Amino acid sequence: MEIRNLTRRYGDLTVVDDVSLAVMPGQVTCLLGPSGCGKSTTLRMIAGVEMQDSGSIYTDGQLICDTVYRIPPERRHIGLMFQDFALFPHLTVAQNVAFGLTGPKAEQRARVEELLARVDLLRYIDDYPHGLSGGEQQRVALARALAPRPRLMLMDEPFSGLDNRLRDEIRDQTLAVLKDEDAAVLLVTHEPEEAMRMADEIALMRGGRIIQQGAPYNIYNAPRDRDAVAFFSDINVIRGRVSGALTQTPFGQFLAPGVPEGGEVEIIIRPQHLRIDFDRNGTGPLPTPEHGTPARGVVERARFMGNESLVEFRMDYDGSILKATVPNVFLPKPGKPLWLTIRRDRCFVFPVR
Ligand SMILES: Nc1ncnc2c1ncn2[C@@H]1O[C@H](COP(=O)(O)OP(=O)(O)OP(=O)(O)O)[C@@H](O)[C@H]1O
Ligand SMILES: [Mg+2]
Repeated sequence: MEIRNLTRRYGDLTVVDDVSLAVMPGQVTCLLGPSGCGKSTTLRMIAGVEMQDSGSIYTDGQLICDTVYRIPPERRHIGLMFQDFALFPHLTVAQNVAFGLTGPKAEQRARVEELLARVDLLRYIDDYPHGLSGGEQQRVALARALAPRPRLMLMDEPFSGLDNRLRDEIRDQTLAVLKDEDAAVLLVTHEPEEAMRMADEIALMRGGRIIQQGAPYNIYNAPRDRDAVAFFSDINVIRGRVSGALTQTPFGQFLAPGVPEGGEVEIIIRPQHLRIDFDRNGTGPLPTPEHGTPARGVVERARFMGNESLVEFRMDYDGSILKATVPNVFLPKPGKPLWLTIRRDRCFVFPVR
């Protein structure tokens, strides 16, 4: 499936702004972005339940929709799964899954059984939906969407109604079934963990535009700007001014290529890339090329989070707060002086606009 230059306006507001994107068979592409950035609107245009103001949509190289030509939604062979994936309450599980199927009854039954076995629900085949748990209903909805073998699956926050532990399990199972079926999948979510877990490719959306696209690893490790870092984790910000293509900071100097002389830069670092070291009568560890110069701070508070501990420091150099996470239990008392170094290779340097 390919969309080209898709744009949608509501009055003066451009909610989808020149979006282009391709989704390949057997691949899960995630449209990831904050609430209101235009994800669902994009999906609805592909599904055909909403018209774009400009741009075109293709599946298998065939035009399905532009501003003059339009294949109706029911003839697009697209599987849909939305947050409120209502099953038909008056139909059995088997009848729900068979809903979009045509052809001989025996073949329909075989397909229904195949999919229910795949989502581990064959035992409920003749039950009605109201007797099933939320997670089970979700899997019936998945089977129903996949039954007619759509080449493209559109999923809009399909796991958001499920509780946390159940959600991880159902995400994994859903992913396995989708891969088996070899459909192209476009999954909308505002949760970075979900995108990291499910996606082969992430398209990061903001303000109606795709601002960055790539494999989860690349988006996480080569983010385009400060907001792209902050979307995936807590961040620390260290500010500096450029002099001779370098920025001096309390943690040593950083290269700031392409930033004009005197320009301001932000050095962004995730809490897991700060390292804590002990105070040795007022001095810290020796500077190294990998970790730069240490800077001293005082513990503001420390919390145990389960897998890790989160320690907040008030820094001596300007009184700002930096956050560091460390594995396991590390709960120093507030007021204790400690030294911080940063993983220089994990810092992102961006000019302040
Ligand atoms: N029918 C409509 N009329 C006017 N504005 C609309 C309409 N539908 C959506 N919008 C606006 O378009 C913007 C994008 O909405 P959309 O539903 O695509 O966001 P989203 O990225 O899916 O957000 P969420 O994560 O909250 O679901 C929002 O500001 C929304 O208020
Ligand atoms: Mg939405």
